[in-house]
Amino acid sequence: MAAGEKLEQAALRLRASQRPVFLTGAGVSAESGVPTFRDAATGLWSKYEPTELATPQAFQRDPDLVWRFYQYRRQIAAPAKPNPGHYALAELEALKPDLWIITQNVDDLHEQSGSQHVIRLHGRLRDSRCSQNCKGDPTLIDLDKFRLNSPDTAPRCPYCSARIRPDVVWFNEMLPLPVLEAAWSAISKADLVIIVGTSGMVHPAADMPMDARDRGVPVIEINPQPSALTPVADLWIDQPSGVALPELAHRVTALA
Ligand code: APR
Repeated sequence: MAAGEKLEQAALRLRASQRPVFLTGAGVSAESGVPTFRDAATGLWSKYEPTELATPQAFQRDPDLVWRFYQYRRQIAAPAKPNPGHYALAELEALKPDLWIITQNVDDLHEQSGSQHVIRLHGRLRDSRCSQNCKGDPTLIDLDKFRLNSPDTAPRCPYCSARIRPDVVWFNEMLPLPVLEAAWSAISKADLVIIVGTSGMVHPAADMPMDARDRGVPVIEINPQPSALTPVADLWIDQPSGVALPELAHRVTALA
């Protein structure tokens, strides 16, 4: 099926849906210059070992190394701006008030582009918290307010002196329960799931489209490469999201 036909089919399904859910991964931010994790050669995990840098055990072992890695990720993500794919999703949400985005990304580019209905499964890169959550879960710490902005060593919580960490979910960690409940609630109500820019390698995010498919909900994937979730999709649009999403939004508004 030609790309145009696939987009037309996807637009018709999206136009007819009342409660579409988009599951996004690092690919949706790739065209904003934020590196993905598993793309060959350019992905973060092709250069760095996640078990050394993105697990609670790594932080326990060497908090300063993990802190420096996340300061580096913050530096590369800071100048990133939303790309046309992000803006297309915000445009679609304006058309479809019950549209939800479940994102694995921690770069908050969906929010910056105007999307309101965003469920962040893995936290937010620019937030920091006490590693012991000494004042409740999460105990967010404003590094600027406490003048704790330190590039090289993991600062200490001003309340309990435990190390401060990025407020992101690491491997071997549970997702915050309220976030998980919100995501599963959105997926359970979805009448269309569109997967954008994820390799589908990480759970529970990857389980969500499968759950929808098992209930007979149509699943569409936008990804220039096949992923672990391509077999789950009824329709695979093998284009970059910065091209496919604006085209999709254009076709849906044209049908309006
Ligand atoms: N448009 C759409 N998809 C793209 C684009 C693009 N322009 N560029 C790359 N991709 C696709 C790749 O083909 C790949 O399938 O984005 C996907 C990125 O996959 P990963 O790098 O594995 O990122 P992601 O799936 O979001 O990782 C999930 O793993 O390391 C953890 O917590 C981290 O949230 C992350 C999770």
